[in-house]
Amino acid sequence: MNTQVILVSRPADPKELQVPGQALVSGAIVAFPTETVYGLGASAFQPQAVSEIFRLKGRPSDNPLIVHLLSADWLDQVVSSVPPSFWPLYQAFSPGPLTYVMPRRDTVADLITAGLDTVAVRFPSQEAARALLQVAGVPIVAPSANLSGRPSPTRARHVLDDFAGRIPYIIDDGPCEVGLESTVLDLTSQPPRILRPGKITARQIMEKTGIEVADWQEAPLGDETQKPASPGMKYRHYAPGARVMIVLPQGTETLEEAFLTRLDQAGESAGLFLSEESWQSIRDRLPGVHVYTYEGGSDLDRAMHGLFDALRTLDRTGVRTILAEGFEGQEASAYMDRLIKASQAEEASRRVLFVCQGNTCRSPMAQAIFNDRFGQSGAQASSAGLAVIAGQTMPDAALEALGEWGIEEEVRKSRQIRTRLVEEADLIVTMTAQQKALMLHYFPQAGEKIYAMADFLDGRDISDPYGQPLHAYRRVRDDLGAAMQAVHDRLVLI
Ligand code: TXA
Ligand code: MG
Repeated sequence: MNTQVILVSRPADPKELQVPGQALVSGAIVAFPTETVYGLGASAFQPQAVSEIFRLKGRPSDNPLIVHLLSADWLDQVVSSVPPSFWPLYQAFSPGPLTYVMPRRDTVADLITAGLDTVAVRFPSQEAARALLQVAGVPIVAPSANLSGRPSPTRARHVLDDFAGRIPYIIDDGPCEVGLESTVLDLTSQPPRILRPGKITARQIMEKTGIEVADWQEAPLGDETQKPASPGMKYRHYAPGARVMIVLPQGTETLEEAFLTRLDQAGESAGLFLSEESWQSIRDRLPGVHVYTYEGGSDLDRAMHGLFDALRTLDRTGVRTILAEGFEGQEASAYMDRLIKASQAEEASRRVLFVCQGNTCRSPMAQAIFNDRFGQSGAQASSAGLAVIAGQTMPDAALEALGEWGIEEEVRKSRQIRTRLVEEADLIVTMTAQQKALMLHYFPQAGEKIYAMADFLDGRDISDPYGQPLHAYRRVRDDLGAAMQAVHDRLVLI
């Protein structure tokens, strides 16, 4: 598929958005800018397109989507009753980066709300987003337009990086003003509660409307503690491939001194995210590091605006560590939330266990391909078999097929699946649906993390090449290769 990038003029002219707007109404996916981040949009009334969004992002189906509306006049298309607290908030903050969770109408597709009895709605202020809503004339569901687990996109370029050739249209209106996703506010709880921190804080809500809301870190009441009220918050997010370290001055240290100290700890191959002024004052002492700066002196809004672009840009340079400026205070809680998630991602190195029958061909090939592609990023694969003849090694044809991809495998011996291996793995992937059924039978307690390759490969099993000529091994290799990105994306989310 060819991805068409549509540049928007200033001020945005709805006529320019006729084509993507109409396509969206008839079921196409259109990426578009908002004041927070770029969204991957579909008509709320096209269930096929909505499910395509989950597939494209690799998004778990228990994570609901936000519905974007042009104005409060559109509410009754998706909301069944509007809580009274909505109106003063709407007056004060909409259009803008605030999302409201309200009781849903039955007609809203379950997929959008992940089966919850509420729906999240938001009124974007970005001009091109409003022009698109106007032309389309339908509510638009849109998660951030990134592959699940990657930093949210704040430029059309980021959307292209993740979805080029996979969606028909990207509307490009330059960098997003805010740079972090919207504040999500649940109006169905008493008092209303912030589920995801964003630029609009509890304090601002109090100041502008007199409404007291519970902050996202305050423990929810009753049995809600069992279940995150905003399902998206439980997933790992915003993670670049590099390790992220947050730089906050300690004691009497200045920010610049803190950067120098952390850089010493990080060692070689680091990238920095900081203000231009901070950088100027230390640059003489740091030849050869990669840097992403924002204009002027240390400033939270500018850092928010630049954060995701900085993570993506520095990541592309191949640095191993990114040192990013931290901020203190309540206003910074959304920024720090995203940064902390990015910094935690690497610490817990994720493990996938591939399982086949004898652990001589398919699962060790999967292990080798995965580690070759993702081993650098901290993820790690191993393998085992369901019915192993101990000590077997990979057949020459398997080694040859891998060698053609430049993967040199060391000799390793087959091993039997055991409880400990199952427990240590974050994700388990079998080669066939039947093996998955066996695994579920033997290890029911691990059921949630057991998948079959078919789950990542349009329903196809990887059949056993044992004893067959080279071409059978090549086919196994190619199929495994095709599924591996999806396996990795799933692993990152767990
Ligand atoms: O700024 C934004 O909100 C961007 C732009 C594109 O509008 N969108 C965005 O969407 O960040 P997404 O899908 O990446 O995040 C949506 C968040 C998730 O944390 C999800 O769990 C939560 O909103 N959410 C959606 N519907 C919900 C509901 N009914 N109840 C609780 N949380 C909900
Ligand atoms: Mg997102």
